[in-house]
Amino acid sequence: MADLPSQFWGGWIVAITVTTFVALAWFVIDVYRGKGGGDNEDMVWDENLREGAKPAPVWWFWFILALMVVSVVYVMLYPGLGTYRGALEWSQGGHIEQRFADYAQEFGEARARILSASTAALAEDEAAMRSAWRVFNNHCASCHGRDAAGQARRFPDLTDAAWQWGVDEAALDTTIRHGRIGVMPPWLAAVGEEGVAQLADYVIALSRGGGGDPAVAPGAALFQQFCVACHGADGSGNRQLGAPALNDTGWTYGGSRADVTATIAQGRNGQMPAFGGRLDDAQIRLLVAWLQAGAKIP
Ligand code: HEC
Ligand code: HEC
Repeated sequence: MADLPSQFWGGWIVAITVTTFVALAWFVIDVYRGKGGGDNEDMVWDENLREGAKPAPVWWFWFILALMVVSVVYVMLYPGLGTYRGALEWSQGGHIEQRFADYAQEFGEARARILSASTAALAEDEAAMRSAWRVFNNHCASCHGRDAAGQARRFPDLTDAAWQWGVDEAALDTTIRHGRIGVMPPWLAAVGEEGVAQLADYVIALSRGGGGDPAVAPGAALFQQFCVACHGADGSGNRQLGAPALNDTGWTYGGSRADVTATIAQGRNGQMPAFGGRLDDAQIRLLVAWLQAGAKIP
């Protein structure tokens, strides 16, 4: 069929359509003039069933005629007659393209507004915060929890003031766009089981404000030796390295003795995936504003 001229089927369809149309018009007019009944005038069936041959009512004729006029106008304006595209050059694809163009324009404006507003202003904008929460719910809640409070002693709480990687715009943008990998090395080989136990005691005491307690002095000494490079001398952390503060009560991996011991002995490698390819600039900015404002469910 491919070697037939492309006009062939179009022409064939035009011929069929026009012929059918003319035949139909002829039939309608014929019936109206009363001849359509043919030669079965006053046929009697089953003893008393009579088949009349009355002309169709006038309204019927006008009704059919109106429909035919509408059809003719329709195939003149819209595609319907073979390959003829209609006077309006309308097409389903074109229709969808137009809708997309309208959509891009409408949302393009909204995006431009989001990108030019300060994150503080966005945080004040209820509609923006609702969109931010929807994005969070779709992309982030599976790990961080619907309330963003973290979960499973694996995924950090995003509603507290303790930020591993920082809360300023640039830091949050980088976290979301490029992801983060926390590198907490394992210490069992370096300090042995006893060392790990002493460190755990110290870190737990530190989180409760008791870092100076003489009972945890051995752990404090090990901490100064092995841990301060990342967690800081006072345990306040280092956002450049994603090393969390240990002098507060928040724990990502759990604050029980068993949890802290496991963290120190085996190390941790939390991975925050990169969303740069999945979210656009405006969505990321909305999330940044929402997180800075405390990640509240609107
Ligand atoms: C597959 C699970 C997963 C998903 C999905 C995920 N995250 Fe994370 N996110 C993590 C983990 C794990 C960390 C901790 C990384 C580390 O240990 O340094 C993290 C860390 C973060 C941090 C850094 C917290 C801090 O204290 O500095 C932010 C901010 C964050 N995520 C935001 C988001 C946002 C926004 C989304 C959705 C766009 C998201 N995350 C989706 C797993 C996830
Ligand atoms: C190379 C830098 C580095 C060194 C050195 C280091 N840490 Fe860490 N530590 C990290 C990072 C990064 C994380 C976060 C890991 C993650 O997000 O998965 C972390 C996490 C932790 C946590 C978990 C905190 C929580 O919220 O659950 C504890 C506890 C901890 N470190 C204790 C120590 C101790 C004790 C030492 C010394 C023996 C030490 N760290 C040495 C980088 C370091």
